[in-house]
Order: sequence, then C-alpha cells, then structure tokens
Amino acid sequence: MASLRRTCGWRPTLTNPLPDGEPLPSPPVGSDPFRPSGHTGLLLSALRRFGGTAPKRSGLDMGVGSGAVLGMLGVERLYGVDIDPEALAATADLMAQIGLADRADLRLGSLWEPVLHERFDIIASNLPQFAATEPADPEHSPYWSFGGADGRRFMDPFLAGLHDHLNETSVAFITHNRFLGMERTEALLRETGLEAREVLSAAVLLHPLKAALLHPDVRAQAQGVGIIRLGPYEFVDVQILEIRPRGSA
Ligand SMILES: C[S@@+](CC[C@H](N)C(=O)[O-])C[C@H]1O[C@@H](n2cnc3c(N)ncnc32)[C@H](O)[C@@H]1O
Repeated sequence: MASLRRTCGWRPTLTNPLPDGEPLPSPPVGSDPFRPSGHTGLLLSALRRFGGTAPKRSGLDMGVGSGAVLGMLGVERLYGVDIDPEALAATADLMAQIGLADRADLRLGSLWEPVLHERFDIIASNLPQFAATEPADPEHSPYWSFGGADGRRFMDPFLAGLHDHLNETSVAFITHNRFLGMERTEALLRETGLEAREVLSAAVLLHPLKAALLHPDVRAQAQGVGIIRLGPYEFVDVQILEIRPRGSA
C-alpha cells in the first residue's frame, strides 16, 4: 500500500466502513473518483440493447457511483444506493445536469439496507468485485472496486437479496467479472428462484497498479479464462448477466 500511496499521491482521509479495516486512501487530488469505467460502459450497452422490454415504473442502481447507469435506466422513478456519501453527491450533480433530479431518490447505506422492503421493475448494478484485500483502484474512490480476496464480498449478499426486490416481470442487469465463477453465482440465484444468462462480455484493461494487487490465487485459477495477460498488459473479462425470476423470460 505504501508504494501505491507514494506513486499516486493518495491521501489517507476516509475511514474504512468495513469491519477491522485500516484507513482507506483517497484518489489523486484533481481526479474524478466516480468517473465511469469500462465496466460501466458495458452495462450501459446492455441496458440499451436488452433493457427496453422491462416495465417502466421504477429502477434501482445498486452502487450508483457517478449516476451514469441510473441516468440510463429510462424509468419513472430512479433509486440509487451507495455506501459513499460523496458518490451520492456526484449522482445528485449528474441528475441535475441531465434534468432527472425530480425523479431521483438517492439513499445512503450498504446494499439492500436502504431499500429493505422495496421492489423494482429493473435493477442495475456494477458492484465492487475486484479480487484484492485492500482498495486497489488508483483512479477511483476507495470504495470503487474492493471485492475481498475472491472478489465476492459484495456480490454474494447482493445476489442473495436480489429476489426479494424483484417482481415477477422484473429484470436485473449486473456486471460480473468472469473470474468470480458462474457456477457459484448460478447456484446462489437458484436458491432464491432466479436464473441468469450472459448477454454481453468484454475484456477490460487493468491499470497496472490495480493488476499488481490482484489476489494471486485468482490470477492462478483464472489465467487465460477470466484474466488475460499479453506481455505487460493484463485484462479482466467482464460479463453482463441478465437475471430474472426463473421461467419468466
Ligand atoms: C464499481 S463502482 C460502480 C459505480 C457506477 N455504478 C458505475 O457503474 O460507474 C461501485 C460503486 O459501489 C459503491 N459501493 C461499494 N460498496 C457498497 C455497498 N456495500 N453498498 C452500496 N454501494 C457500495 C461504491 O461506492 C461505488 O460507487
């Protein structure tokens, strides 16, 4: 961590919200810590191509970040959840810029807690899912991509709770790093009566400082499958999963 801080000039200003976490660094001064990423772009493409048939009353973006995905949901009521108050401020700014502020309801908290008993027609999420034991993304907020040793720290509780926030005709679109393992994701979804299909995928270049913090077990297991190395360049293969109640497609 020390070498990352030196290289990027990160400032240790935020407190880690996770149990027993050490203080988290902040991104470089002057950067946009909520700038949409390659994962975000792929999710936007999926919403444009496959999101059109979903009912249009309400939509949730879980881990709303900049608000770019929320702005693309195209529904009447827009709900955004994030654990980071600064992310919600960024989303509020974007909603105002694109004329959607009146339709947006932004909630602070972790995963399902701020929307405990609510259901949505469409849910999108691009949750942190990088396999690292410390914040690894030098260009974004410290909450951006930190997914724990196997990358599933937030994915698993998100998937476990998803069913209770969908109606029979609802749909969810999520980013899912292939190294997370489809088998585990499908098994978790099956337990609550949901099913997933991959609708898009792309290889996204890893920042070298981020690649350096990829958990070695994941790199070893996923080499050539979810992690692609070409000389000094390393890519992560990201899928977009469309998730629905089983049999509703
Ligand atoms: C990879 S970024 C995606 C942001 C945005 N949706 C996008 O696609 O550009 C993940 C977002 O999830 C938020 N986040 C991290 N942990 C969270 C949690 N436990 N509950 C809700 N949001 C969380 C982060 O603050 C960050 O804004």
